[in-house]
Amino acid sequence: MTNGKFITFEGPDGSGKTTVSKAVTKRLQEEGYKVIYTREPGGSAIAEQIRSVILDPKNTLMDGRCEALLYAASRRQHLIEIVLPSIEEGITVISDRFIDSSLAYQGCGRGIGMDEVFAINQFAIESYMPDKTIYLDIDAQTGLDRIAKGRDVLDRLDQEDISFHNAVFEGYQKVIDKYQDRMILVDATKDVDDVIERAYQEVKGLIDGTRES
Ligand code: TMP
Repeated sequence: MTNGKFITFEGPDGSGKTTVSKAVTKRLQEEGYKVIYTREPGGSAIAEQIRSVILDPKNTLMDGRCEALLYAASRRQHLIEIVLPSIEEGITVISDRFIDSSLAYQGCGRGIGMDEVFAINQFAIESYMPDKTIYLDIDAQTGLDRIAKGRDVLDRLDQEDISFHNAVFEGYQKVIDKYQDRMILVDATKDVDDVIERAYQEVKGLIDGTRES
């Protein structure tokens, strides 16, 4: 049996990643493709418990390296419980975030450094990396403005100031540069239906093998 693909969606807060990745998954499932949607941090019962600790706005004392380790721990559990078994069964996994988020948010946003954050993640993921990553391209301020309009409750990271989110944005630019072969950039400032259509075409092409993987 052919393995499923491992496709991740990445982007700053407010890029529309969750809406777009869920819509793409639904459309492919309706067409009969074997695809699942999952997310990080979380995606399995244990990993979701770790997510609650990380994102709880009450955890104001959380240290940046502790945060990075918790994301990596959640990632490990999700990879072993959900991602790898699905791929081995021939199911394509669409994950709403993966290691690139840690490189951008903890590596640059928190200023820990991308190499150090990569090192702890290597322990968590061994050699498993996504086949392709759809990056929803939007600047930090536009993303934050969208969140401010759309959400009543902000999580611990949403509440960070614009300088943190700008540093995350810079981090993503470095990630895009480092992993050029893996990254597919989609303009996320466009109308949501256009963004979904473009992302859908890319993911479908990867599954069908009509786009380079
Ligand atoms: P979400 O808003 O996509 O559900 O993600 C929750 C928050 O966690 C978001 O602000 C991005 C952040 N995050 C990291 O800082 N590092 C990571 O490794 C991941 C997966 C998410």
